[in-house]
Amino acid sequence: MQQLLVRPQDMKRIDSPALAQAYIDEQVAAIQEQVGDGKVLLALSGGVDSSVVAALLIKAIGDRLVAVHVNHGLLRKGEPEQVIEVFRNQMHANLIYVDAVDRFLDKLAGVKDPETKRKIIGKEFIDVFAEEARKLEGIQFLAQGTIWPDILESEAGIKAHHNAGGLPEDLSFELVEPVRILFKDEVRMVGKTLGLPDGMVYRQPFPGPGLGVRCVGAITRDRLEAVRESDAILREEFAAAGLQGKVWQYFTVVPDMKSTGIKDGKRTDDWMVIIRAVNSVDATSATIEEVPYSLLLKIRDRIFAEVKGVNRVLYDLSSKPLATIEYE
Ligand code: XMP
Repeated sequence: MQQLLVRPQDMKRIDSPALAQAYIDEQVAAIQEQVGDGKVLLALSGGVDSSVVAALLIKAIGDRLVAVHVNHGLLRKGEPEQVIEVFRNQMHANLIYVDAVDRFLDKLAGVKDPETKRKIIGKEFIDVFAEEARKLEGIQFLAQGTIWPDILESEAGIKAHHNAGGLPEDLSFELVEPVRILFKDEVRMVGKTLGLPDGMVYRQPFPGPGLGVRCVGAITRDRLEAVRESDAILREEFAAAGLQGKVWQYFTVVPDMKSTGIKDGKRTDDWMVIIRAVNSVDATSATIEEVPYSLLLKIRDRIFAEVKGVNRVLYDLSSKPLATIEYE
């Protein structure tokens, strides 16, 4: 059983647990054959693709998978904890948790330009991951959550796909890509069949730079906390209203801008939280979700009550185009 690099033209869409199970069995055998008694390294973000890759590898080679979870401080509320709970506590993975929060936030301090922010986050991520990789011995393989649309996009010249994860040349590994020939819905079906929690499998799209691009302008710890807390409230309330998995992407944004308010008879100078909820097929265009007004008011009340330093809540009505989905 060899790993397939190209999706066979006649491959049936994996749309049932039975097909997913057959794929899992095939991949477990393919991984065992490729890796032998070697060790595999994986950057485990907790997103759908890397989580499914981790679960497949744990099944195939157990603790010879070394999964590294880098907490860069820009993850959503509860995400690092969920990675530890699912992979270390439930699946008994060999998981290295790296708390790099201060390191990332110190590098980002005062940086306003969105592209510079993205570059710093990307480079710092590689640096942290490479440092961890150098500490380990006897690793021959690097697993990646490459999926079939990544291959199609890089062939079409839309996205530069970094094959070796952008790692420095002294760290050269053979790649293991067990979901390479799958479409996203198939990755989810495989993840569900592997027993990953729904919250991980049916996760909405989330940008690599994370909450960093939703804390518009130069990132400060307190404003980042306002993004994280308001996002958690929005997700909780959307889930309670049955909108989770129905609305394509929803999140909050806190721009670097204050406005006047009033609290206990005194003037305040605080931030605003913008709520964004959009529907899309492939993110190239998007329409806004018509969120029930009563739900918006409930979310507003919770944000005012629970998030520090906020005196306004706004709902973004902009479709794409003219607006993009993210703010920067
Ligand atoms: P935009 O804002 O361009 O977003 O309409 C389209 C989709 O891409 C996601 N996005 C990113 N994903 N790194 C990523 O991995 C990024 O820098 C990035 N910027 C935007 C966005 O969340 C949306 O789903």
